[in-house]
Amino acid sequence: MTQQHSFLTQHLGIEHPIICGAMYPCSNPELVAAVSEAGGVGVVQPISLTFVHKHQFREGLRYIRTLTQKPIGLNLLIEKSSKKYLEKNKEWLGIALEEGVKFFITALGNPDWVVRRVEGSGALVFHDTTDKIWAKKAVDAGVHGLICVNNRAGGHAGQISPEKLYNDLAPLGLPLVCAGGIGDAESYRAALKLGYQGVQLGTRFIASTECSAHSDYKQAIVNAEAADIILTRKLTGVPVAVINTKFMRERGSEVGGVAKFLLDNPRTKHFARMFYSVRSLFELKQSLNKGADYKEYFQAGKSVAGIDRVESVASIIQGLVR
Ligand SMILES: Cc1cc2nc3c(=O)[nH]c(=O)nc-3n(C[C@H](O)[C@H](O)[C@H](O)COP(=O)(O)O)c2cc1C
Repeated sequence: MTQQHSFLTQHLGIEHPIICGAMYPCSNPELVAAVSEAGGVGVVQPISLTFVHKHQFREGLRYIRTLTQKPIGLNLLIEKSSKKYLEKNKEWLGIALEEGVKFFITALGNPDWVVRRVEGSGALVFHDTTDKIWAKKAVDAGVHGLICVNNRAGGHAGQISPEKLYNDLAPLGLPLVCAGGIGDAESYRAALKLGYQGVQLGTRFIASTECSAHSDYKQAIVNAEAADIILTRKLTGVPVAVINTKFMRERGSEVGGVAKFLLDNPRTKHFARMFYSVRSLFELKQSLNKGADYKEYFQAGKSVAGIDRVESVASIIQGLVR
């Protein structure tokens, strides 16, 4: 797949098939705008925009528009377990459409209602998936493409390698985007060579000048190797990739016995995950702003291996596509 002929570049009208994936709490509006301005597409994480970076949702989108006129995307976490949160997502989707957003990345639930809602607007819906079963459900819901989250990704990583995930999902016939493990030109080229139509990066863009994360967090990414990335359930109740910082080593990455019981029990797991998720919103926000002075909860994926300095978004993108 050449960059010029990617589905993403053609349908979104962007220069490079590079998405800066939504990141709670790291997606500050300046980072989103910088990626779009540099020829990729930045994706807004709505809780990050409103809760961490303190913008009203519509005003936040308009602020990004003052920084770039190029396409941006919106991430919607559409898990049904909280009715209130699902309603909020519907509201955000409506506002985003009014504000001219044409790219949506859904995760966690069934994206059928998002697909129906955007119909006729010319917008694209891509769904995050970690395996064939969930991918098929998203295809049945009518999505336009799949974000294939592999076992190297930051955030909630998958379990399957980029190669196998591509082979498993290519027969579904939709454009596939590789998410996870891309931090340099070599890994970028390898993903396109496999057949992916584009890539979604998170970790690489945290170590950028435009990301407002604390310098301790950025430096931890620069210093880390792939072997330093571990999974912990201590944050959201489901495995999240983090750097094995001194804080993590001292505290341990495993949840305690009672928490494990509550998280594994089908009757209590939704409640337990909800509790953990809400608590982690605060913990992650503090780590983002205060760095090592707080708790070193630094989410990152194995792409840290290819990241050796903090640089501007434009030079990161130039470095990838050179
Ligand atoms: C700090 C962090 C926060 C993330 N938060 C979200 C999120 O809120 N929603 C989402 O769909 N994906 C989230 N992700 C996943 C990214 O959008 C992207 O798929 C992933 O980072 C790609 O892997 P990489 O970090 O190796 O580049 C997050 C990733 C990171 C590193």
